[in-house]
Amino acid sequence: MFSVAIDGPAGSGKSTIAKLLAKELNISYIDTGSMYRALAYKAAISDIDLENDLEIEELLKNTELSMDKEKIFIDGKDVSGLIRSEKISNLASKISKNKEVRKFLVDYQRKISKEKSVVMEGRDITTVVLPHANYKFFLDASVEERANRRYKQLLEKYGSADLEQVKEDLIKRDEADRTRENSPLKIADDAVVIDTSKESLDQTLARIIKIIRG
Ligand code: DC
Repeated sequence: MFSVAIDGPAGSGKSTIAKLLAKELNISYIDTGSMYRALAYKAAISDIDLENDLEIEELLKNTELSMDKEKIFIDGKDVSGLIRSEKISNLASKISKNKEVRKFLVDYQRKISKEKSVVMEGRDITTVVLPHANYKFFLDASVEERANRRYKQLLEKYGSADLEQVKEDLIKRDEADRTRENSPLKIADDAVVIDTSKESLDQTLARIIKIIRG
């Protein structure tokens, strides 16, 4: 199977780029962040203590995760529209530190990539999930630019947002994602690094397509 792996911090443009790229290549788009978000959502509504390994293990044993196109289901329920809030962003970052959670999701992600060609994006796709992907990219942008993008997304979705709070949350979440013990966000030696701060998403996309098509 053919695979493109994309990593980067929140707001780097990786979701938008990965989605458009998958469309262009006519293969599946896999948003792995949504999987961490869906588990965080279930943990929150089940009142699970994210620091308690036993409670998390129990949650994983009793959870069925599935995806259909860009929708994500937990125990058969479509949670796609419920997992984009700042609260779930922060809980997803917390739950993603757990070793068992990572194993559960990495196994699931690898299984998908064996069944179909994918553009898969997240934090550890180029380094852990698909280290032998056909193409590997690391997208980044300045904190200001990333916070602005995230702010606009939240404003569009929820009608209100606080830019300073968004920026503060983003910095905290990045720090946690980059410094955690298990599969931290880092640049793979053989990934192409792209700074998306100063170019439009269309320009970045064109650059990536050129690399892939040669
Ligand atoms: O990409 P996102 O913002 O939807 O991801 C939410 C959180 O999930 C992020 O803060 C860290 C975690 N995550 C991860 O640890 N590994 C991935 N492959 C994808 C996301």
